[in-house]
Amino acid sequence: MADKKNDASSGRRYRLLANPTSDNDMIGIFDSGVGGMTVAKAVEQALPDHRLIYFGDLARTPYGSKSPETITDYARQDTEFLLAKGARLIIIACNTAASIASEQLRREFDVPIFEVITPAVDKAIATSSSGRIGVIGTRATVNSGVYEEKIRAQASEAKVFSQPCPLLVPLVEEGWLDKRETKMILRRYLAPLKRHQVDTLVLGCTHYPLLKELIQPRIGKRTKVIDSSREVADCLKNYLATHPELDSQLRHGGSNRYYVSDLTEAAGSIARRIFGRPMELHKVTI
Ligand code: DGL
Repeated sequence: MADKKNDASSGRRYRLLANPTSDNDMIGIFDSGVGGMTVAKAVEQALPDHRLIYFGDLARTPYGSKSPETITDYARQDTEFLLAKGARLIIIACNTAASIASEQLRREFDVPIFEVITPAVDKAIATSSSGRIGVIGTRATVNSGVYEEKIRAQASEAKVFSQPCPLLVPLVEEGWLDKRETKMILRRYLAPLKRHQVDTLVLGCTHYPLLKELIQPRIGKRTKVIDSSREVADCLKNYLATHPELDSQLRHGGSNRYYVSDLTEAAGSIARRIFGRPMELHKVTI
């Protein structure tokens, strides 16, 4: 569906073929690993008839501790893989890749590109009554300052308090979802946000929805917790409802496909935990 050549007129590396085949037109989702399956699951629930294709870059995860240049290169390759497999639009499920590379990908690829940050920001602004908004994410996401930038672009009075939580991804990947140590670390990470009395907290990382049950009581029940996976799924659903010309080109029916660049037992069990069913993950080299 995507034609891999320089399109001189748009300056973009990809352009859509004039007559995309219905066999190809899927919703493409990528992440640095399996955490982005929280987004895939939300999309499956929001758009159960649409067909999706997922890529998790397990061989090179985590992205959260990499440099912006490396994250951008990886995000570009992930997008190329999905387009070559027949994606018609892309969702960047990885907050880290979204915070660093989404603008660059939009310049390079002539397909609709959704990402998890913008819908979560919109929801946070709509939800917060005090304007005191907390964000938790990887170091790369927090260092990018993208949440502050996007929130303050729409709500200049808002006060954004961001907290990098680098230990949470490995804890989720180890399956330590209900361990004492995880609760202790969460308490420590959330303490400054509690002190700042945030009334809204954005889960700015694919893995954090899996810790939502632990996060909510520790940040306090009056703080609204925003799960970016649900927000991006709703955003895509609304977009397709108002863009029937795109929706009609997307493939409906058939089974979804999940690709990973490395296959480990831990990945299989996180995938199973996210979907609540055994998942068939296909290993590919990109
Ligand atoms: N997927 C990443 C994110 O949402 C977390 C894992 C990683 O660091 O690669 O930020």
